[in-house]
Amino acid sequence: MTQQTLIELLDSRVSAALAAVGCEGAPAVVQVSGRPEYGDYQANGVMGAAKARKMNPRQLATEVVAKLNLEGIASKIEIAGPGFINITLAPAYLAAQVQHALADSRLGVPQPAMQRVVVDYSSPNLAKEMHVGHLRSTIIGDALARVLRFVGHDVIAQNHVGDWGTQFGMLTAFLIEAEQGGDSHVALADLEDFYRRAKQRFDEDEAFATRAREYVVKLQGGDAQVNVLWQKFLDVSLHHCEAVYEKLGVGLKREDVRGESAYNPDLAVVVKNLQAQGLAVESEGAQVVFLDEFKNKEGQAQAYIVQKQDGGYLYSTTDLAAVRYRVATLKADRVLYVVDARQSLHFQQMFSVSRKAGYAPATLSLEHVGFGVMLGEDGKPFKTRSGGTVKLAELLAEAELRAHALVSEKNPDMPEVERRVIARAVGIGAVKYADLSKNRNSDYVFSWDSMLSFEGNTAPYLQYAYTRIASVFRRAEGFDATAPVVLGEEAERQLALALARFADALQSVARETMPHFLCAYLYELAGQFMRFYEACPVLKSEGAVRASRLRLCELTARTLKTGLGLLGIEVLEQM
Ligand code: ARG
Repeated sequence: MTQQTLIELLDSRVSAALAAVGCEGAPAVVQVSGRPEYGDYQANGVMGAAKARKMNPRQLATEVVAKLNLEGIASKIEIAGPGFINITLAPAYLAAQVQHALADSRLGVPQPAMQRVVVDYSSPNLAKEMHVGHLRSTIIGDALARVLRFVGHDVIAQNHVGDWGTQFGMLTAFLIEAEQGGDSHVALADLEDFYRRAKQRFDEDEAFATRAREYVVKLQGGDAQVNVLWQKFLDVSLHHCEAVYEKLGVGLKREDVRGESAYNPDLAVVVKNLQAQGLAVESEGAQVVFLDEFKNKEGQAQAYIVQKQDGGYLYSTTDLAAVRYRVATLKADRVLYVVDARQSLHFQQMFSVSRKAGYAPATLSLEHVGFGVMLGEDGKPFKTRSGGTVKLAELLAEAELRAHALVSEKNPDMPEVERRVIARAVGIGAVKYADLSKNRNSDYVFSWDSMLSFEGNTAPYLQYAYTRIASVFRRAEGFDATAPVVLGEEAERQLALALARFADALQSVARETMPHFLCAYLYELAGQFMRFYEACPVLKSEGAVRASRLRLCELTARTLKTGLGLLGIEVLEQM
């Protein structure tokens, strides 16, 4: 069947009609929601075309509609307002879409031209334990990687961990002391504490500080003994991260880790290359690239530093080396950097230098997928009660605990093992969904009560909607999995329409790197299902109608499960 999403199909048909009347114009087909008088889709590109040719837009719209071939697709095409074309899809067409999706393991989602997409996400600094600051990158990056993969792209995850720099000299020096004192194991059990103690030694003991600095030099020089200890420290730290990924149900693996240290051998090469191209120049002893397009307040070109006065390299140099690796070795068509919005300037400048230096060809898309900060209910950055940083492991444990209390209250007689399984899916799902459902560009308030609510745009609401359908099937006592879908009632047609929009929702997430589009879609779908379920009896209906309605239920359940799965959220058969 079709290898286009609904919007792509309508777009191409309206384009063809515009071309048939001699216009080249963007058809601009958009989805309409909640306004049945405007149809299901609206094409509003005719007005632009009319303006360009100084024509009466309604007149042009009439001509376009006369050429618009939507036979077998639309049941109604209307011109509205100054020249909008409103399109209502035919029940038979939507029924066929539902059947097609039911017969397909990809739920009818067409495959676009495949791209290799590198997704740089999570990327914590390994000197310390993961804290809430890393939650958003980890969750958003994972959801994007899943959606891109499902849509049909070749995704390479890159965990660009911070594993290099002066801190690691201090940490290895401290690890040697701990080993000598025989308590390295105990000391490493709490990385935060380990870091604090190392820092304290560094600040208070001059001899230790000197040794720490020597270790940085040794480490960079490839000294074997220091290297072993550094590796040991990284290993412990990565284990902490992996425990968090495991809890979160995030698919990052050891082989996805390519830390800053991996680029160390290339840093001098990058700076030399930038100098040879006349891009990097000396300024106050440092090597900098002046960028005309980024002016400071005084109107001077901003300097992007690639090597410090003391010869040391920076975060920026490492990212330039990483671009080269991602292009030359990973063969990326697109690179997504899922990193805090506060690093926005760094990325814009780094992209600009990469282009100028020829590291990033014009065909490569470099995108900073930024996000705002997580706030506490007081509207201030999320902190522990005593004002400290919240460890991720502790936050997730609390999520499960709270969900467990909720489940126990609802189902006091449920066996404990089952309650645990539900608590995990609901607790972790709630934390992830609360994050993913907001526009990532804004800051968001972390609130246990709203994320664990069974009402509104939350994970528990969607998980519950899924279990309701599962319970319909438990009570259905068998059904015909080949029965034709017939959409007699408007509520059935609306549900089928919502189901048919899945591919467009995924495509827009993949294109615009906005996971909240998928959440909004699933919430809308669950709402349409509830309206259908109220308006159209399923189990109490009979014959072909009952069989058809069960098939609608089936596709709704599969779409909810798949969609939540793409957000990294589990569904349950019962809760
Ligand atoms: N480690 C960095 C941090 O914690 C994030 C790295 C993001 N990725 C990158 N290629 N710069 O802020």
